[in-house]
Amino acid sequence: MNTMKYNAGARTLHWIIALLIIGNLASGLLHFAIPVHKAIGLTVLVLSLARLGWRMAWKAPPYPASMSRAEVGLAHAVHGVLYLFMIAMPLSGWIIASAGKYPLSWFGVFEWPKLAVVKGSAIYGAGHEFHEIGGWVLLVLVLGHIAAALRHHFMLKDGVLRRML
Ligand code: HEM
Ligand code: HEM
Repeated sequence: MNTMKYNAGARTLHWIIALLIIGNLASGLLHFAIPVHKAIGLTVLVLSLARLGWRMAWKAPPYPASMSRAEVGLAHAVHGVLYLFMIAMPLSGWIIASAGKYPLSWFGVFEWPKLAVVKGSAIYGAGHEFHEIGGWVLLVLVLGHIAAALRHHFMLKDGVLRRML
């Protein structure tokens, strides 16, 4: 086993969740395919909870010694906030959709339960506000995260990206 890499479970979940979230940022911001948007977002919720649980069970591979304490601290901070949004975006979406008139369905395969939320309530307002602003915040975080990964790979050439491949 190569202990210099994230383990296979972590890598698989990272890339599946990344693709689903990028798709949902696009469909959300462009306001298209909302039923698919909801089903994908609920999938992200389940996979992210599984990933967080899995994450607590092992230690991440070490960073190269060339990275400063500040860089490592920034990476950890951004990852922490990414995890937060991987849970909070689907949860706030679930809150909004629960108040809507359409049934919630997971790709037409099964009904997803609705939360007891009505339009006009404080929780609905907060969920809606968070989902809207959070989408932009998450987009900026993801772009920064991608830029950092590419910087490590092409400029610093320090193997940080390879740990996730
Ligand atoms: C990975 C998770 C998710 C991401 C990144 C995401 C992102 C977004 C974004 C960026 C928007 C556009 C906000 C705006 O400008 O109005 C949006 C809208 C929306 N999302 Fe999500 N979303 C996610 C999960 C969900 C889930 C799980 C649901 C419901 C079960 C959901 C339901 C909605 C609805 C109903 C809208 C339209 C809101 C409105 O304008 O009334 N989303 N989403
Ligand atoms: C929506 C998209 C993405 C999300 C939400 C996301 C989230 C995360 C999170 C939470 C971690 C921390 C892993 C841990 O230690 O538990 C991570 C690590 C990583 N991600 Fe992403 N990621 C996304 C897309 C990408 C993309 C497109 C790339 C490459 C271009 C990338 C490259 C990496 C790398 C190299 C690491 C390891 C970084 C390190 O250990 O410091 N990610 N990602």
